[in-house]
Formats: sequence, C-alpha cells, structure tokens
Amino acid sequence: MKNYKIAVLAGDGIGPEITAEAIKVLKVIEERNDVKFELMPALFGACAYFETGDAFPQATIDICDQADAILKGTIGLSHEESKKIPVDKQPERGALLPLRRRYNTYANFRPVFLPKSLAHFSPLKPEVIGDGIDLIMVRELVGGLYFGEKEMGVNDKGLRYVRETLEYDEEQIRRIMHEAFKLAQKRRKLLHNIHKSNVLKSSVLWNEVMEEVAKEYPDVQVVNYLVDSAATALCLKPTQFDVMVMENMFGDILSDQGGGILGSLGLMPSACIGPEKAYYEPSHGSAPDIAGKNIANPYSMIGSVAMMLENSFDMAAEAKNVWAAMQGVFADGYSTADLSKPGSGVKMINTQEFGDKVVEKLRAMPK
Ligand code: NAD
Ligand code: IPM
Ligand code: MN
Repeated sequence: MKNYKIAVLAGDGIGPEITAEAIKVLKVIEERNDVKFELMPALFGACAYFETGDAFPQATIDICDQADAILKGTIGLSHEESKKIPVDKQPERGALLPLRRRYNTYANFRPVFLPKSLAHFSPLKPEVIGDGIDLIMVRELVGGLYFGEKEMGVNDKGLRYVRETLEYDEEQIRRIMHEAFKLAQKRRKLLHNIHKSNVLKSSVLWNEVMEEVAKEYPDVQVVNYLVDSAATALCLKPTQFDVMVMENMFGDILSDQGGGILGSLGLMPSACIGPEKAYYEPSHGSAPDIAGKNIANPYSMIGSVAMMLENSFDMAAEAKNVWAAMQGVFADGYSTADLSKPGSGVKMINTQEFGDKVVEKLRAMPK
C-alpha cells in the first residue's frame, strides 16, 4: 500500500466548497487503488489571517513541508473586503506568492481544454472551436514582475511613486523552456513562444534563451507570437495553439482569457511544479460573488486533483479516469450554473451534485 500525505489548503470564498468535492474524488481513488491519502487540512489565505494574523502561518508551512503534495483551493477576498487586511498581509502577497517562492514552483501548467461536443459552453462560434480547443499554457511562476524588487514612496518632486522591476536570469528562462519543449515533444511538437521583445528587454533575453534551448529539441516547431497579438489569436483561432510558453504576468492574463474562451474559469485547473514539491490549484480566484451558494463549478479543483495524481503520485491511468468522469457528466447534459444558462439546453446542477456525479462515474469505470 502506498501512503501519501496531502496538505489541503481549502482557502477562502468558494475554496472550501470545491475542495470538498475534490476530496470526495480522492476517497474514490483510495477505494479503487492500493493507496492511502493522509489529508492534512491547514489554514491558508484570508481565513488564516483572521484567525492567526498571518495568511500563511507557521503551522501551515510545517504541514506543507511534510506533505508529498499540496492541494490548494482558492484564496482572496472581494475588492472591498481586501482593504480590511494590510497590503503585505493580504492572502495574495502574504500566502500565495510565499507558497510559490518557498517551493520554487516555477513551472505552472494551465490546460485550456474543450472538446467539440462542448462547443456550446464557449462564447466562440462552433466553427471557431472546430475539432475542439486543446492547449496548455506553460507559465513561468516564480519570476518577473511578481517577484522583482518593489519600492513605494515619495519622489524628489514630492509625488507618490512606485517602482516594480521585471527580472529574469537566463537560468530561470532556460528551465521553463525545457519544461515547455518537453511537453511539446509529447504532444503536437508545436510550441508557441509568447513574448513582447518589441518593447521589453526581458523578452529579448527570453527569446535568446528560447533559441538556444530550441537547438536541443529539433523536432519541435517554434512559432513566435507577441503577447498582444496572441490575445487576439486566442479568440480568433484558438485551435492553432498546442503548447504556449510565457513569463509570469503574461501567463496570468492569458490563462484567464483561456477560461473566457472555454466559457468559464471553472474549467481551469492547474499544476505548479517545483524541483522537489508541487502544488495544485484552480487557475481562478475565490469567486466572492458566488461563494457560499453551492453553485461554483468544481471541475477546476477536481481537474487539479487529476493533475496531482499524474504528476505527484504516478497514477496517470486514474488521472485519465477522473477527466473522463467529468467529461461524462457533461456528456449527460449536466453542468453548474456558470455553464447552464437559461436557453443553453444544459441541465443545472449544484457544486455537490457535480461532485456526486463525478464520483458515480468514476466508481463505474474499469480500473
Ligand atoms: P475570480 O477568478 O475569483 O472570479 C472571476 C469570475 O469567475 C467570477 O464571476 C466568478 O464567479 C467566476 N468563477 C471563478 N471560478 C469559478 C468556478 N469554479 N465556478 C464558477 N464560476 C467561477 O476572480 P476575481 O473575482 O477577480 O478575484 C477574486 C479574488 O480571488 C481576489 O481576491 C483575487 O486576488 C483572488 N484570486 C486568487 C487566486 C488563487 O487562489 N490562486 C487566483 C485568482 C484570483
Ligand atoms: C493566479 C492568480 C494569482 C496570480 C494571484 C492571486 C496572486 O491570479 O494564480 O492566476 O496572479 O498569479
Ligand atoms: Mn490569475
């Protein structure tokens, strides 16, 4: 019997609701396999701040340190509520970025997937969806503007000013490029390199290193795209993309656009991989507008579990089954409120019902 410790950071907003559904799925994986998951819940985010004064308390750090993998829900408050917490203690700066930094989770994989049969979920026309959208954004996650030097103060003219720096060294770029090229080799052997070298020097270095790394992967075709034009292309012809690689901030923005072209951020899971530890989280936020209503789509969270099974526990076959179980629920014509608007023909179910249906499908699947 294999034993794995999973730190469970349910977080804020819809985090606990969608995490509960993910845990149901983990329990079924235990039933079906010779594996035991020791779940270690811990406070993380605004909930942790209000309880302990710290969004990433030491007790949570200790649990994450011990864990084989970390499953994270969502953190954050609404714009107005956030103001109740000092800027540096807010869950994004006080918990999420420190988590990424601590485990050096530089490689963030954000799949944007919609089969042709679900084209009606998307705001794009069926002819734009074609045979389906199936791309993965590879986002550098521990560099760039997010982690550069920052300064806020008053300048010589007596004006409030701010300075944030976008820094990368060649090693940081090289390692994410290797991740992207290796992934491209396993897929369509096509890599879209997203940059802004017409303005940013960081992109000039980014592209230089990309070209050096590309020599080690002669079977992968590279297509260069300026980030602004990539944003348009994602709407006009998303099917041209397979693997896309980009720096931190570009990846933040384009991956939310990825959720947009699918029809909901609720379809956006992700994996954040470091040299020794990985954590898994939806790409979206805590959705304060729908929190506590049992209507959030748990696909992003259950998909993050599937990514954890494959990457951290070497259970690729079960990961596939989890994806298939979720697709099975959609194929039966069900989804949560985000994807079952009146007139869509999709039957509305709530968060828990979605989880229950996934569990039912998964239990029925051959091992
Ligand atoms: P958001 O991603 O929380 O929500 C944007 C929209 O998408 C909302 O209308 C929301 O209801 C919808 N949505 C998101 N996930 C959904 C799901 N699973 N099912 C159905 N609908 C879903 O973005 P926001 O409102 O700009 O941010 C809210 C908070 O989340 C902020 O405090 C932000 O900093 C934080 N945030 C956290 C993370 C994270 O934990 N990794 C990521 C992004 C944003
Ligand atoms: C994401 C989120 C985070 C980011 C925030 C909450 C710090 O938007 O994971 O995409 O910007 O990376
Ligand atoms: Mn984001």
